[in-house]
Amino acid sequence: MTQKRILSGMQPTNNLHLGNYLGALKNWVDLQDEGAECLYCVVDLHAITQPYDADKLAQSTREIAAAYIAGGIDPEKSVIFAQSSVPAHSQLMWLLATMTQIGKLNRMTQFKDKAGKNSEKAGLGLYAYPVLMAADILTYNATHVPVGDDQKQHLELARDIASTFNHRYGKEHFVQPEPFIIGEATRVMSLKDGTAKMSKSAPSDLSRINLTDDADTIAKKIRKAKTDPDPLPEKIEGLSSRPEADNLVTIYAALSGKAKADVLKEFAGKQFSEFKPALVDVAVAHLEPITNRMSELLAHPEEIDKILTKGGEKANAIAQPILDKTIDIMGFWK
Ligand code: AMP
Ligand code: TRP
Repeated sequence: MTQKRILSGMQPTNNLHLGNYLGALKNWVDLQDEGAECLYCVVDLHAITQPYDADKLAQSTREIAAAYIAGGIDPEKSVIFAQSSVPAHSQLMWLLATMTQIGKLNRMTQFKDKAGKNSEKAGLGLYAYPVLMAADILTYNATHVPVGDDQKQHLELARDIASTFNHRYGKEHFVQPEPFIIGEATRVMSLKDGTAKMSKSAPSDLSRINLTDDADTIAKKIRKAKTDPDPLPEKIEGLSSRPEADNLVTIYAALSGKAKADVLKEFAGKQFSEFKPALVDVAVAHLEPITNRMSELLAHPEEIDKILTKGGEKANAIAQPILDKTIDIMGFWK
């Protein structure tokens, strides 16, 4: 087995929220700190698959890079870069598109969600989104891809494309990337509806905690979070038909680094009026340093640009030879 190589990315659309942090970013930091080779990109080419503001794209890319760094990604240890600064992603995407079955793309639930009722009018880019994601991963031969569980289907497709290529050309060229879905909070739910995912696009800002929210805002959102009238149960099974309660316990567990069962041991029989202030405390203690660091970083955009430029160079140095080899295997004139 080759050495572990981690790759992941987030789109520069809006601000990151607690779901992005607990479901993805926090795990990225843990992997980095375990000493794995880590590449973390800001997937700006994915962001343009839906309507976006060209005047804001570059700044949003900086903001996501700042969130990575503020959340604990160290540019000295991990490669932080913008997807668009490495041409191999889009070039490989075309090559992979020729071996991706439409039937498989038709099954992608994210496309169905994003395209909505008017899928005939959706752009080809939105439809081909998972192929670009496969290219992101395969052009580094990444071995592990840490994401929240909503991305599992895309990752399965990337594995599929890798094996189609290897089979078609008779070479063990691409590595099969493993999904890496870890931690207590692989799916953080909305604070207003425990059955809907916390998301950047939900209309109510009270449904999510943004990584840019200050302590008062975090406290207010948690106080207003939907709950039920019962006290917290003793056992995890007691949360099964209580999505809002389950979500708040999950968030508490993930932020405090405890198992859900241990959180319940501590709070069994207590009312939300007691649990919520405790949750505010852990949330603020954990998130405030990140918010503060992010503002400091954003005050010096030129420093972020330097990090992204250097990261782009390092990423290119890994991706280009893998793309070149792919082109070679596919038999092109050169
Ligand atoms: P997105 O916000 O869809 O660009 O997702 C960026 C990363 O955050 C992906 O790895 C997602 O799986 C993860 N993620 C997004 N929303 C959530 C959520 N509510 N709970 C857990 N992980 C999430
Ligand atoms: N599709 C992912 C999301 O919406 C973002 C993404 C793009 C990604 N390329 C990737 C994640 C490569 C992991 C690896 O969250």
